[in-house]
Amino acid sequence: MNLAATLAPTAYWYLARGTGAVALVLLTGSVVLGIVGSVRFAAPRWPRFAIDTVHRDLSLLVLVVLAIHVITSILDGFAPITLLDGVVPFATPYRPLWMGLGTLAFDLLLAIAITSLVRRRLGYRAWRAIHWLAYASWPVAVLHGLGTGSDIKQWWMLGLTVACIVAVLVAVWARLAHVSGEHAGLRAPATALAVITPIGLAIFTLAGPLQQGWARRAGTPKSLLGRPGPAASPGGAVSPPAGSSALPASFTATLGGAVSESQASGGAVVNLAMRVSGQVRGRLRVRIGGVPIGAGGGLSMTGSQVDLALAGRPSVLQGQIAALQGEDFDARLSDAAGTTVDVRAQLQIDSQTNTVTGILSGSRVS
Ligand code: HEM
Repeated sequence: MNLAATLAPTAYWYLARGTGAVALVLLTGSVVLGIVGSVRFAAPRWPRFAIDTVHRDLSLLVLVVLAIHVITSILDGFAPITLLDGVVPFATPYRPLWMGLGTLAFDLLLAIAITSLVRRRLGYRAWRAIHWLAYASWPVAVLHGLGTGSDIKQWWMLGLTVACIVAVLVAVWARLAHVSGEHAGLRAPATALAVITPIGLAIFTLAGPLQQGWARRAGTPKSLLGRPGPAASPGGAVSPPAGSSALPASFTATLGGAVSESQASGGAVVNLAMRVSGQVRGRLRVRIGGVPIGAGGGLSMTGSQVDLALAGRPSVLQGQIAALQGEDFDARLSDAAGTTVDVRAQLQIDSQTNTVTGILSGSRVS
């Protein structure tokens, strides 16, 4: 089996994640300007024309970026997402709820764009009612990003999402401060909603996406999961002996185990399940998703998951492949206790017997 030189993350994967983050920021900007634009009636000094123009242009840009986001998610091929999943919510087998929310938000925005084009024929009142959907699409999109994004555990993505939420909250609170006349009765329920929503999102994020095992709970198909924790690992081989949880500053161990490959829509997943024995003991599991390149059996890597469960350590060290050369790879792994370790695996894969042997070396970073 040649995982080798041909393995490199596809640009689609980075683009899908990058455009997701950009779409969220642009959508937030558009929603904030929409809210600020409506405050202008109470504060007429604000430049109405400028706000409207930027709001409209930003909204169009959101649709363009989202089109790229959807197309790159499909082309990436790691997750089974089709063109239909871009418009029909909750149909995909891949994290159906969280992906479905993204599709729903996209559909709501498409509805707004289409009705804006025929605004004259529709009449102002009907158009405006539909336009309110823009506000609904924003929290739905935030939930999608939190629920399915692979970067939410990174400080920058979490910070970006929090910043978007704060921006909309500030705009909503400013808007509520200007509510008067016939709409004054709306102030109390709207304020309650503006307080409850961020609290709900915070509780959801802490209890869900930031917890270990979220990928499974989120509905990732089994064939794409590469992370059985110690309790779930076959044979329960890594029950922690008391008092032995310290990880050496550096270590070397031998690897031995099995290789299997399964087909996923648009590509394949290579699964390496290995025993670790030597200065540390336990299990190393590596999953590499990729799309085949050429006839030589090579794969272009679209995603990876590395799990190192060591005897004496209650939580699994997890991470992704950072560099892959031939059949060797480097990865930075960390666990819930804040331990980070850089590992290098030098592997020999025998595709006749579907076995793998090799050396694992590691050094603690923190
Ligand atoms: C208003 C609509 C949408 C917004 C604002 C949005 C935004 C986002 C954000 C912020 C992320 C997290 C990115 C990260 O963690 O780096 C994300 C992830 C993702 N989105 Fe969307 N999205 C939308 C609709 C869609 C649609 C319609 C699809 C395709 C059917 C889609 C497919 C994906 C996929 C596959 C991921 C996971 C990428 C990964 O982290 O590996 N999104 N999206």
